[in-house]
Amino acid sequence: MGTSAARNADVLVAGAGVIGLAVAWRAAQRGLSVTVADPAAGSGATNAAAGMLAPVTELAYGETPLLALNVSSARRYPSFVAELEQDSAMTVGYRTCGTLQVAWDGADLAALRDLHAFQLSLGLAAELVTGRELHRLEPGLAVGLPGGVVAAGDHQVDNRLLYAALRAAAAREGVAFAASRVTDLVVTGDRVTGARLDTGEVLGAGAVVLAAGAWSMQVGGLPPDLLPTIRPVKGQTLRLRTTGEPLLRHVLRGSVRGSPVYLVPRADGGIVVGASSEAVGFDLRPRAGAVYELLRDAQALLPAIGEAEIDEISTGLRPATPDNAPLIGRTSLPGLLLATGHYRNGLLLAPVTADTIADLLAGGADQPELAAAAPTRFAATAAAAVAAR
Ligand code: GLY
Repeated sequence: MGTSAARNADVLVAGAGVIGLAVAWRAAQRGLSVTVADPAAGSGATNAAAGMLAPVTELAYGETPLLALNVSSARRYPSFVAELEQDSAMTVGYRTCGTLQVAWDGADLAALRDLHAFQLSLGLAAELVTGRELHRLEPGLAVGLPGGVVAAGDHQVDNRLLYAALRAAAAREGVAFAASRVTDLVVTGDRVTGARLDTGEVLGAGAVVLAAGAWSMQVGGLPPDLLPTIRPVKGQTLRLRTTGEPLLRHVLRGSVRGSPVYLVPRADGGIVVGASSEAVGFDLRPRAGAVYELLRDAQALLPAIGEAEIDEISTGLRPATPDNAPLIGRTSLPGLLLATGHYRNGLLLAPVTADTIADLLAGGADQPELAAAAPTRFAATAAAAVAAR
């Protein structure tokens, strides 16, 4: 699959998760020669994710600058998927089944009403429904849930199928792969001219794109104004298997006694349950307590899930920035671009990230739409933090 790494390429992408591969695919489509370097391609957050494409139900107070970007990427999804499925000759499990955000009790419903008003004030499509209406939409829900919000435009994709398709499409476009980690940037004069791998080999490149998720800032030679802007937030997901009639038709989200949980039903009867949110550094070990809480809360919302088989427990690290918006675009170091920091929205933001970075690599101008994601926005605080060390 793909060719082996070229010693010189137009673009070197550090990181072969969904973001790195989407960037590589789009850049190669524009006629650029691309190498992607990653010692464990696709094994990080891309693998643990559930694949929710959820600008409405992931909306959080204080994160409205991120919203326009999320909405823009959600709109790109149908054509992104159509083109990718054609280029890869694979399907990616894109399902437009909508999302139900359910309230657990009266207090939760009051909070959900406030959130719904906030969603409407931002022009998002979301509908408040009664408990009875919820049960009509999802007969398997626990009895007594008081109501919820239907976000018909919040969709899902099978993150693992999408990843496999990106890998195939990128290879078809001639993207080369190196199973190595980028350890250091190589800077000649005032610009990046390549990178060193953990094998000691140096790959020359006209531009380097850092897309290594939570690990992106561990590359040597970064300008001090980029540090330290990413923190890892561990997420644990479970993959369950059900047989017979589907237990669930929509993506389901809820907060059971304050503990958030989501259930994402796949077309083949699988259900992905997520996700913990743990600030424990680079520790990827699965934790029994997180598994217990996810299953407890999933079963509280959908009792029949107790009969499901457990296929897998996965962990990944969300790359979170100080304002939870990603880092997409040029940096203060010519030749260095960032496509990272996507926190809870990596799958959703892949299309807009890839389109934007590919445009920049092909000589395009910065897009105003991307201002909220400018990698330089933390420059003053990052430089001050480094100076204070
Ligand atoms: N977007 C879901 C999560 O980060 O858990």
